[in-house]
Amino acid sequence: MNYTNDYVIGWLKENLNKERFEHSLGTAECAEKLAEQLGLDKEKAYFAGLIHDCAKCLPKEETLKILENVELVSGELENPKTHHAPAGVYVAQSKFGVEDEEILSSIRWHTIGKLNMSDFEKIIFLADKIEERTRPTEYREPIKAALNSGGIDSALLICYKNTIKSLVDRNLTICTLTVDIYNSLINKSALVNKKKEPYRL
Ligand SMILES: [Fe+2]
Ligand SMILES: [Fe+2]
Repeated sequence: MNYTNDYVIGWLKENLNKERFEHSLGTAECAEKLAEQLGLDKEKAYFAGLIHDCAKCLPKEETLKILENVELVSGELENPKTHHAPAGVYVAQSKFGVEDEEILSSIRWHTIGKLNMSDFEKIIFLADKIEERTRPTEYREPIKAALNSGGIDSALLICYKNTIKSLVDRNLTICTLTVDIYNSLINKSALVNKKKEPYRL
């Protein structure tokens, strides 16, 4: 990393709106705490959290121009809310000289996620959802409760359930990767009914 946190915070303050800037600080703080609990690199987690949304407020045309050179997953181009994640990788590399693959990957996948995320990718994904500066209590508390009772994959499962429910409620399509990740998490969880009961009609 070529830049200090202070420089990056100054850049974010100028290039993000007020709420997104606060959210970035919140995500950094939360990622640092999660990293500490999991024995991961705290400083790196703080930095990744700080810059995860660095491309969020780029003009739409600039974002789409960046995406011309990025391999997107099925359904990603159709969902503009996810575009700042792949675009964020480009901004992190070009503006801040980030080369660390773990940081870049955690930015890349913080919106839709991916199968078999590393613990580092998972904590940036989760910190984005449960930071305390801007995320509403009613949204983050169930995820935090799952984290405290069942661990990081249980918390991820709640996030995917929320996403899928919300997409269904709004009559939107669900990208295949989201379904695959949900299936993988539910299969790993204790919630899946492994023993098939006979019908009793
Ligand atoms: Fe984001
Ligand atoms: Fe975010």
